[in-house]
Amino acid sequence: MTALTSSNLIERIGNTPVIELKSFSTKNVRFYAKLEWYNPYGSVKDRAAYWMIKHAEREGVLKKDKSIIIEPSSGNTGIALAGIASTLGYKVEIVIPEKVSIETKDILRRLGATIHETSDDLCPRVGAGTDQSIALAKAISKPRPDIYYMPNQYENEANFMAHYESTGPEIWKQMTGRLTHFFTGCGTGGTITGTATYLKEQDSNVKIIAVQAQKNHLLQGLRNFEESAMPDLFIRRQQVVDAWFTATNDESFRMVKELASQENLLVGPSSGAVMASMLNVAKKIDSGIMVGIFADDGRKFKSFYAEHGVFNLTEYERLLRNNGYLPDTDCPYSHN
Ligand SMILES: Cc1ncc(COP(=O)(O)O)c(C=O)c1O
Repeated sequence: MTALTSSNLIERIGNTPVIELKSFSTKNVRFYAKLEWYNPYGSVKDRAAYWMIKHAEREGVLKKDKSIIIEPSSGNTGIALAGIASTLGYKVEIVIPEKVSIETKDILRRLGATIHETSDDLCPRVGAGTDQSIALAKAISKPRPDIYYMPNQYENEANFMAHYESTGPEIWKQMTGRLTHFFTGCGTGGTITGTATYLKEQDSNVKIIAVQAQKNHLLQGLRNFEESAMPDLFIRRQQVVDAWFTATNDESFRMVKELASQENLLVGPSSGAVMASMLNVAKKIDSGIMVGIFADDGRKFKSFYAEHGVFNLTEYERLLRNNGYLPDTDCPYSHN
């Protein structure tokens, strides 16, 4: 793999593959997944992190070798910011709920981030009194605006733009304009609002399905909008959503297993949720072409999947090898 430098980083973000999930497709309903773990730091969040940092650079708020980027994150945004920012010459501090997987925290440390832990639920909650991670990140950064910069993915328009300018156009091109339904899980709402706004501008008939997690969930990266307020970024364009699907932990894990046994894919829990949503819609239509975002893969979830009985360690390592990964890699998203 080529070492990441500030000049080739942009070329490696985005342009992720779309594959057909042939074992699920039928004559009339076809299933496709956009594999976001092909981004250099392993998830859909590389796009938002890169766009937010570049926007801040253009606004002149970041200074090389001086600025510290601080952000509340349940994992992927933190990993993306840590990897991209250090490649570009900035320090990173991430405020993270202690329940986040050991592997995620390990990756963050290996990418050079300082970690602050809170006792939040899995996702930093948005809303008064429940937003410990967000509040802590604000408390650390506010008194030192000369050093700290908090992108705040929950409000930052560059998070929307990342998907409006990259994910949406890529899907439209890769599907040659032929899709009927688009599915993605929702955290900040950046992926769904950015991608869907672009897709609907091309074809207003494309149906947009938002996937949220059940209450009290285990699906890292997703959110339940009854227990956590909708972020401002999502509220601004929530009208792009045509239908909602609430995924349970159990059905998401079942789909993670099916994607492994039928498609030999080692996906993260939220891709299981998206797959469950696609199959649910497929039952109600005569024909369609569905595209779902598979936001990350299973490389951060070894202990999590063992703990929740999704894969035992032998199955997990076999899947890793089958997907071309080495089981003993310390940090799957290193700098080179
Ligand atoms: C693991 C993970 N991270 C992030 C996202 C999307 O997040 P956002 O709504 O913040 O763009 C998803 C959506 O599926 C996800 O599964």
